[in-house]
Amino acid sequence: MPVNLLQPWRIGGVEVPTRIVLAPMAGVSIQAFRRQGRRFGAGLVCSEMVSAAGIEHRNERTFGYLRVAADEHPLAIQIFGADPGAMADAARMVEAAGADIVDMNFGCPVRKVTKTGAGAHLMEDADLACRVVEAVAASVEVPVTVKMRRGVANGSRACLELGPRLVEAGAAALTLHPRSAQQMYTGEADHSITAELVERVSVPVVASGDVTSREQALAVLEQTGAAAVMVARGAQGNPWALREIAEGEAFRPTREEVAAELVVFIHEAVRELGEQRAVGFLKKFYGWYLGHGRFPKPFKQELTQLGTTEEVVTRLFAAAPGAAPLVERLEAERPAAEDEVLLDALPISVYGGG
Ligand SMILES: Cc1cc2nc3c(=O)[nH]c(=O)nc-3n(C[C@H](O)[C@H](O)[C@H](O)COP(=O)(O)O)c2cc1C
Repeated sequence: MPVNLLQPWRIGGVEVPTRIVLAPMAGVSIQAFRRQGRRFGAGLVCSEMVSAAGIEHRNERTFGYLRVAADEHPLAIQIFGADPGAMADAARMVEAAGADIVDMNFGCPVRKVTKTGAGAHLMEDADLACRVVEAVAASVEVPVTVKMRRGVANGSRACLELGPRLVEAGAAALTLHPRSAQQMYTGEADHSITAELVERVSVPVVASGDVTSREQALAVLEQTGAAAVMVARGAQGNPWALREIAEGEAFRPTREEVAAELVVFIHEAVRELGEQRAVGFLKKFYGWYLGHGRFPKPFKQELTQLGTTEEVVTRLFAAAPGAAPLVERLEAERPAAEDEVLLDALPISVYGGG
């Protein structure tokens, strides 16, 4: 019998309303992305990886990651670091900020992170990895979870040994992206190893990697017995993929719908990051939203050349005049964000964080 993607499940005491998790992505998973993801059917959304050291040093920019809006819950905030004490402190801040779950990054393959002993490096230092999880689990009331790669070297099966130990140390769920750190994002996610992990642990496992359609989501859940699938690249500029996975109908958004969602996203990004940062941050999103044959290529390129988000919005409304009333409706329906703190910069931009 096919798995029901709309069936709620639990991580510790937290109920997750659907079996679709929106992935943590550095440089992508801002609040605007997460709120949109929840609206389109993700049952759980995640922040991008936040540096425990940045939190420890009370870095103002890092604190910007800890803003939680009312319509994001349930939300996991992901932290990274290799020092158990600093990770425990960071976890307490994350809990105080309102996260429902503290997730730990044991998958980031980027050298800047692994050379500090954090990210995927922890896949090879099981004792330290367990100490980190124990310290974090002991410091907060909310469930703590870990996101792993299969291991560091190609062909590694380290996650199968480490996973059960992390559960013993206090992890209430595990996410597995079954590529090696060496692979980065090349090749395919090998979900046969996800199935093996599911057999070995008593907590829910989330399967991450190469899920972009409902067919793939169902196939991965069936193959692995995982509790949920995680969607990362498939949701970039394409929240309709989440809706299709959740509801089963192929959604071909109209140009008006695409432009409206992008405009709402732009408005929120500006509120979150400030205009100056948002201009640069948003550039990659134009290609992501307007691709898929939705708008001609030169139009996408034109938008990336514009100096203000206001000009971008004006062009979008000119290209899709019906979008304006849709934006009005979407913004009227949305609960107001809790705070209006502007961030002048994104703290860590380690693209490809896990
Ligand atoms: C741009 C980008 C940034 C990422 N940043 C993070 C991160 O901060 N933390 C993390 O655990 N994984 C991160 N990942 C990994 C994804 O969460 C996911 O595991 C991986 O992309 C495989 O899923 P996909 O095939 O659906 O993209 C990132 C991936 C991408 C493409």
